[in-house]
Amino acid sequence: MTLSSAPETAAVQHELRGGVLVVTIDHAPVNAINAGVRRGLIDAIDAADANASARAVLIVGAGRGFIAGADIREFGKPPVPPSLPDVCNRIEACGKPVIAAIHGAALGGGLEIALASHYRIAVEGAKLGLPEVLLGLLPGAGGTQRSARLIGAQAALSLMLSGRHVGAQEALRLGLVDRVGQSDDVVAEGLAFAHELIATQAAPRRTKNARGLADKDASTAAIAAARAETQKKSRGLLSPLKIVDCVEAALNLPFDEGLRFERERFLECRESPQRAGLVHAFFAEREVQKSPETRDAKPREIRSVGVVGGGTMGAGIAVALLDAGLAVTMIERDDASLERGRAHIENVYDALIGKGRITQEAKARALQRFDGATRYDALADADVVIEAVFEDMAVKKAVFAELDRVCKPGAVLATNTSYLDIDEIAASISRPQDVLGLHFFSPANIMKLLEVVVPARVAADVVATGFELAKKLKKVAVRAGVCDGFIGNRMLAVYRAAADHLMEDGASPYQIDQAVRDFGFPMGPYQVIDLAGGDIGWAARKRRAATRDPNARYVRVGDELCERGWFGQKTGRGFYRYEDGARIGKPDAEVEAIIDAERARAGVTPRTFSDDEIVRRYMAAMINEGANIVHEGVAQRPLDVDATLMHGFGFPRHRGGPMHYADTIGLANVLADIRAFAKEDPLFWRASPLIVDLVERGKNFASLNRTS
Ligand code: 3HC
Ligand code: NAI
Repeated sequence: MTLSSAPETAAVQHELRGGVLVVTIDHAPVNAINAGVRRGLIDAIDAADANASARAVLIVGAGRGFIAGADIREFGKPPVPPSLPDVCNRIEACGKPVIAAIHGAALGGGLEIALASHYRIAVEGAKLGLPEVLLGLLPGAGGTQRSARLIGAQAALSLMLSGRHVGAQEALRLGLVDRVGQSDDVVAEGLAFAHELIATQAAPRRTKNARGLADKDASTAAIAAARAETQKKSRGLLSPLKIVDCVEAALNLPFDEGLRFERERFLECRESPQRAGLVHAFFAEREVQKSPETRDAKPREIRSVGVVGGGTMGAGIAVALLDAGLAVTMIERDDASLERGRAHIENVYDALIGKGRITQEAKARALQRFDGATRYDALADADVVIEAVFEDMAVKKAVFAELDRVCKPGAVLATNTSYLDIDEIAASISRPQDVLGLHFFSPANIMKLLEVVVPARVAADVVATGFELAKKLKKVAVRAGVCDGFIGNRMLAVYRAAADHLMEDGASPYQIDQAVRDFGFPMGPYQVIDLAGGDIGWAARKRRAATRDPNARYVRVGDELCERGWFGQKTGRGFYRYEDGARIGKPDAEVEAIIDAERARAGVTPRTFSDDEIVRRYMAAMINEGANIVHEGVAQRPLDVDATLMHGFGFPRHRGGPMHYADTIGLANVLADIRAFAKEDPLFWRASPLIVDLVERGKNFASLNRTS
């Protein structure tokens, strides 16, 4: 490899320009700090101190930003000196004024380098932040100690606990930077600042001596408030409370001791499975965007989009499209349905206005791009059409026949079907190459997941257009093959069945929900059913009754509830009781009696399950089906399954998705569990050939993740 033979320090160059040593970090694409960058920075500061002609140092990033942070790919590998804290200390100790000039991202370790510099300038478009918490980490190169001293405990905590990015003007207001440049020429702005400092004989100004924590009472109060809030919100995450501890250390300990305190906490986080899960999630989100089609084909143009159907999904999809600035034409069956569709959309915006998230004007602006019609001719100019009518093959085919008739050549024709065979829909019209699935999740304007379902005959640029649309909608697109339920719903069916088996065998739905929540999901499976409406699954079960394997175990509890009209929150009763419109349900003794009766009917003697056993079965079912999905090529890689479950089904991000979690606990252990459970129900618990194969070869799911 030519690259590895290049000198390690090539990522940092320095040159003297009129008395200023300009140090440029050049490590594409985002100037992440690896060993070469660290070494190069130390060399550059040493050079500045040794060179009498250098009267100031200017640190800038090449390319699109300053520095995006530590190189996340180095975590988990043996550390290579110098460490980033040593680099920051060396910068701070420099005998000449050091100026950081920031454009684009200055995040994590990147901002820590800027904080260790003596002066900071940002240009418009800069994004500053300490987002380590989102990766299960805390700023580990002095960031907790310097940020608190520079901008005070409250502002520093808010930055580090949220992980949010601030722009140049906000950074100026917070005191993170000294000034905002007039132009976007970051080098010129930085040089001008440096020359001013030289002219005024400004001395190095070390952040470790900054006085942001001088008001001890205010700092103590801010720390106590952050601790109370974090204890309530952090749900088992390690790093947020440690961030609070570090700021407390900044207040109470001398700087060097504070640094040591921070470093120990940082290393604990770095070695934790949570960090591994969150970093996996970060890369998985980026990898899923890469598919054979996005590599090889250019997306078609997307300016105006048609949506057919204005129900729950059609309206949500329309809002997502409008929010992305696209023009939307909705088609409904008749005027009354169209009016309902428009009202659905207005309701979504009105709710946002009620919460103070958007203004009336923003709603009016969005609705200006919206149009409705009952005649398909209105879609003649649409670049993309998304069908979201009833889940019925005949109805969908009729809609696609109309689209085939009116849409311009090259228009992308998408279906939002949950389960139907998209190959069959595509084959029913004259242009199957233009048909794909775009499977949104409810509420479609909120949920991040979009399954891009790829039928056999679709053209590559149509698939690429699906990914491009997802990007415009700021969604995480995952490529899925055609099958019953694609990736997400197919897995859901299996792990819900596992939960039903547990329920009939003796666990209460309330214990199952609690165990699943304790694992990290925001809701348990029965709460989700109550929220979405039990009738949806009931209808699907009725549809499938004829084709169900008569030998497969079937738990009737859900049907019993639906037969009583207990569909969940919307009817005030489901698995839980929702009194007076409450959104959080209470356990219901009558439901427990129904479950008891079903156990008796099925001849089951109830037994007790520990929470751990519940989670093991629930997860084993999920992992096994995920493996089948990868094995059949429905998902490209295990990480595609992970991204699907994290963004569409509430899988806890810090566990990195079911396949990453399986690797964490060991695939051989998962296989042993499946084989043990199979003794009771061999039809349900059939080990996936992929798991068997990987265990035999001593491999894990990660070995199948072709990440770049
Ligand atoms: N390390 C290694 N690679 C990184 C990286 C990092 N810190 N940040 C981004 N990348 C990679 C991405 O994986 C992607 O690689 P790919 O092209 O092979 O898929 C490439 O850089 C471009 O990234 P994006 O696609 O995300 O580009 P965007 O322009 O959309 O976003 C960004 C740029 C805002 C910088 C975004 O990448 C980001 O948020 N990065 C992470 C920032 C971060 O969390 N920094 C803290 C790191 S931890 C730390 O610093 C510890 C310290 O305190 C000791
Ligand atoms: P819905 O019943 O709320 O809405 C369907 C709408 O389509 C109705 O407004 C109806 O008037 C309209 N419609 C029916 N036939 C039509 C036709 N020929 N021309 C124009 N409009 C027509 O259904 P929902 O929940 O929005 O589902 C729509 C599709 O989205 C289904 O395929 C469903 O499987 C899928 N889906 C549903 C999800 C959900 O959570 N509800 C999630 C993901 C996909």
